[in-house]
Amino acid sequence: MAGAKNSVLKLMAAALLAEGTTVITNCPAILDVPLMADVLIGLGCSVELTGDRATITTPAELSHEADFPAVGRLRASVCVLGPLMGRCHRARVALPGGDAIGSRPLDMHQSGLRALGATMSIEHGMVVGQADQLRGAQIGLDFPSVGATENILMAAVLAQGTTVIDNAAREPEIIDLAAMLGQMGAKIVGAGSATITIEGVEALHPTEHRTVGDRVVGGTWAFAAGVTRGSVVVHGIDARHLAAPLERLLQAGAAVDVLDDGFAIEMPRRPRAVDFITMPYPGFPTDLQPMALALAAVADGHSLITENVFEARFRFVDELIRMGADARTDGHHASLRGRANLSSAPVWSTDIRAGAGLVLAGLVAEGITEVHEVGHIDRGYPRFVEDLQSLGAQIERVAG
Ligand code: EPZ
Repeated sequence: MAGAKNSVLKLMAAALLAEGTTVITNCPAILDVPLMADVLIGLGCSVELTGDRATITTPAELSHEADFPAVGRLRASVCVLGPLMGRCHRARVALPGGDAIGSRPLDMHQSGLRALGATMSIEHGMVVGQADQLRGAQIGLDFPSVGATENILMAAVLAQGTTVIDNAAREPEIIDLAAMLGQMGAKIVGAGSATITIEGVEALHPTEHRTVGDRVVGGTWAFAAGVTRGSVVVHGIDARHLAAPLERLLQAGAAVDVLDDGFAIEMPRRPRAVDFITMPYPGFPTDLQPMALALAAVADGHSLITENVFEARFRFVDELIRMGADARTDGHHASLRGRANLSSAPVWSTDIRAGAGLVLAGLVAEGITEVHEVGHIDRGYPRFVEDLQSLGAQIERVAG
């Protein structure tokens, strides 16, 4: 399993924190990695992407301006805000704005950096931060935001004194980032728990770090087995990172074997309908919600799916309805009565995970389903079509 998109992008940003050459391995072959490289090059770094390695050389003097269009093409590049504030005490980062899954404000990023002593503002479409010195602080997040936890963490590692982040995000990608920062000389305790304590240090040094396996891609394969009544063996991830999704698939009738470096799953018959509630980690991940919808669309019975993380992540349901799904949404809820068969239709991906969910639905729809805008999928899934073909799927990429 290749490295996690939602970790590698932050690991690349963390390289800004130390002058010299940082090497990140197990980088996934996805579109977002070269986009992140462009952002770092715009700040003065040199970046070499060879195979699954990213070699990032950070200069003594960094620019603090991460401008459009590089940032505009990659929402996640907002994660350079923390490292720039930590290293340069100033930052101008283009405001990424919302996307298909929600408005995605940055208020918690800004209030966290303000608590560390920065002045933060939005000017001409840019998030602007400035500080004479960052000082440790007690920061309580209203919601365990992944991005805010990461930006505050990457600023606080070079602040004077101790920072405590309460109600921090607990995702495995946070643990991976903290592990790399620790290798760079940072003093962090509690990553993966709701309270993270950071003792600021004078300076960090470069390192070499291997990216954690991508649990969202691994979870997508698990649902592929569920939806198609098939079987898949996934290597290269920690199955504990998928405890919630695998538990749901077990409830739906799957057989799951946990392996040393992954898991094996089989769905011997039509899945039973189960409910899903998306929550921050260790709850059911919102990034697998479209896969859960695809399963519910063909499951035996009625499923209720509750989305608690992104307010607009049910847009994709309309595409499923185009394929004959018996589904309706009401605010944060989607309810589906499973059908034995879906029917093929031309459908449009609205984001990475929605695109993958539509392909899973297409695998069990009568006829040939055309999934459009698959560039979204390539942003998060390396070798998606090739891997599905190797699992027996009749799928091909057509130019268009
Ligand atoms: C990360 O987004 C991931 N992206 C998302 O994956 C993932 O869905 C999300 O975490 C939750 O797990 C990357 O890591 C690049 P949040 P992020 O800050 O950091 C609200 C995928 O498909 N919020 O935890 O943006 C926010 O609007 C992507 O791979 C504020 O209100 O997520 C959302 O409703 C999609 N104010 C909720 O919190 C803030 O300042 C969770 O957002 C910050 C967040």
